[in-house]
Amino acid sequence: MKITFYGQSTFGIESNNANLITDPFITANDLAKDKVDIQTLKADYILVTHAHQDHILDVEAIAKNTGALIVTNNEIANYFGDKGLKAHGLNFGGSKKFDFGIAKYVVAQHSSSFPDGSYGGNPGGFVLQIDGKTIYIAGDTALTMDMKLIAEEFDLDLAILPIGDNYTMGYKDAVKASDFVNCDKIIGCHYDTFPAIEIDHDAAQKAFKDAGKELHLMEIGSSMEL
Ligand code: NI
Ligand code: MN
Repeated sequence: MKITFYGQSTFGIESNNANLITDPFITANDLAKDKVDIQTLKADYILVTHAHQDHILDVEAIAKNTGALIVTNNEIANYFGDKGLKAHGLNFGGSKKFDFGIAKYVVAQHSSSFPDGSYGGNPGGFVLQIDGKTIYIAGDTALTMDMKLIAEEFDLDLAILPIGDNYTMGYKDAVKASDFVNCDKIIGCHYDTFPAIEIDHDAAQKAFKDAGKELHLMEIGSSMEL
């Protein structure tokens, strides 16, 4: 499958059967808005980890444009469902089979209010089983012992972890998180978008390398094969 980075926590995942977009935040991301045209994005599914602005901003526009099904927690699913969009709600521990494979909604240690302050359910992450590969999308989270449960259940091929610090774990805790989930191939996300989450790329790369792991800091718009 092909994974494309669109900035912050937004990824495109092209699988054999479907196109997925995660946490779309592009049109107000100064690093991405001139490089990515949301009108051209293909999506059959939009996965949303929590209700914060930097994860839901472009959900409605992309869903309207593509007819994609929004897969998220129950409260966010109801919010978009009330706008007439197609949405499916999960909650912690819940798995569901979709065209692309299986998605499980897992614990994240964070918060999840909508931009107007209203309740956005609990923040989560996803474990996706797609085309014979297993991917952990942590969402916004602190390092948490719950990550060890993921290693007990799944044999991950890739972990997408926040590394920007301040609002989530930083790269040092993300190295520990990659141990907890037992994965050596990591894509970093949720860094550099705002001054508070700017990171030293070389130091982050070194921290993972010293632990015997690969950290990918993808250029916005670039892709990798998994
Ligand atoms: Ni957040
Ligand atoms: Mn965030």
